[in-house]
Amino acid sequence: MKNSIKATAIAPSNIAFIKYWGKKDEKLRIPTNGSVSVNLSNLFTTTTVEFSKKFEDDLIIYNKIQNNRGRSEKKILTHLDRMRNLAHLKYKAKVITQTNFPTASGLASSASGFAALTLAAVSASGLKLSEKELSILAREGSGSACRSIPDGFVEWLDGNTNNDSYAVSIFPPNYWNLSIITVIITKEQKEISSTLGQQLLISNPFLPVRLSRMKEKNKKVKKYIEKKQFTKFGELLESEALELHAMTLTSIPPIIYWQPDTVRVMKLVKSWRNEGLEVYFTMDAGPNLFLISEEKNEKKLIKKLKENNITDIVVNKPSVGARLVDKHLY
Ligand code: DP6
Repeated sequence: MKNSIKATAIAPSNIAFIKYWGKKDEKLRIPTNGSVSVNLSNLFTTTTVEFSKKFEDDLIIYNKIQNNRGRSEKKILTHLDRMRNLAHLKYKAKVITQTNFPTASGLASSASGFAALTLAAVSASGLKLSEKELSILAREGSGSACRSIPDGFVEWLDGNTNNDSYAVSIFPPNYWNLSIITVIITKEQKEISSTLGQQLLISNPFLPVRLSRMKEKNKKVKKYIEKKQFTKFGELLESEALELHAMTLTSIPPIIYWQPDTVRVMKLVKSWRNEGLEVYFTMDAGPNLFLISEEKNEKKLIKKLKENNITDIVVNKPSVGARLVDKHLY
C-alpha cells in the first residue's frame, strides 16, 4: 500500500416499500425479515476517505463539523475499523462527509452515509470487493445502508447469516418511471434512533403477527413492481408504512414519530386520491413523508402541495446505487 490513498463515493438514500424493523442478530444487524426499497436520486451523501501514514489520529468532519465523539461519529469510527481490519491496515483516516439533506430526521441519512463510507473506505484501503461484499459491509454499519449499494429497485434478501444477508438490484432505476417526493415536516433530529426503536420492538405483542406476514408482503411488492401495477403497489406500501408506525406506537415504551403536520399530509394524500390523483405515502421512522406517484402525475402533485403551502419538498426519481467519483471533497 502507498503512503496514502484517497477515494470518494456518492451514495443515495433509499426508501423502503416493505420495511426493515427488527433484528435477529443485533451485532451483525441481520434483520427479522427481507425488505424492498428504491434508491433516491436527490437525497445523497458524498464521502471522501483518506488513509495515510502521516495522520496521527482519525479525523471526521461531518457536514462541516469536526467531531469524534457524537453518536454518529462513534459509529463511523467503528465502521472504519471494520475496513481497516479487513485490509490489515494500521493507518489513521481522514473522513469528510457531506449530506445534501437534514440528517437523523427520518430521511435515511445513515443508509446513504454508511453506503458512501463503505465504498470510499474500501476503495481507499486498496481492497477489491464485489457488490455483495460491499453490501454486507455496509449492512454492518447500518442495516438499511446495504440497500443503497446496488442500483435502482433493491431487495435485501431474507438471510440468516453474515454471508447471506445482503441486498441485490431487482430492477434498474429506469424500469419504472416513479416520482418519489420527500415532504420534510421537520429538520430536527429525531429523539429515538432507528437502532433503539428496533430494540423496543422485542416485547411488542404484535410482532409475531407482523413477522408471519413479511414473506408474503415482499413477494407481492416484487410482483407489483415487475408488472407495474401501481394501485396495488401503492396500497401495499402505504399500509406497510402505517404498520411500521403501528409497531412503534405499540412498543414498550411507545414511540410517536408523527407530528401534527405528518397526519395532515396523510389525510391530504387520501383526499387527492379521492379526487382522482393517484398518490400514496410511505415513511421511515420519523415525521417526514415520501409521496409516491407515477411520473406522469408529478406536476399535478407538486401543484397540490404548493396549494396547501407544503413547500419543503425534494423531488426524486429512482436512482443508481453507490458509486466512486473522481472529484474529492478536499
Ligand atoms: C424505518 O438501518 O437506520 O428506515 O441498522 O439499527 O442502523 P440500524 O437501523 P436503520 O433502520 C432503518 C429502518 C427504517 C426502515 C427501512 O429502511 O427499511
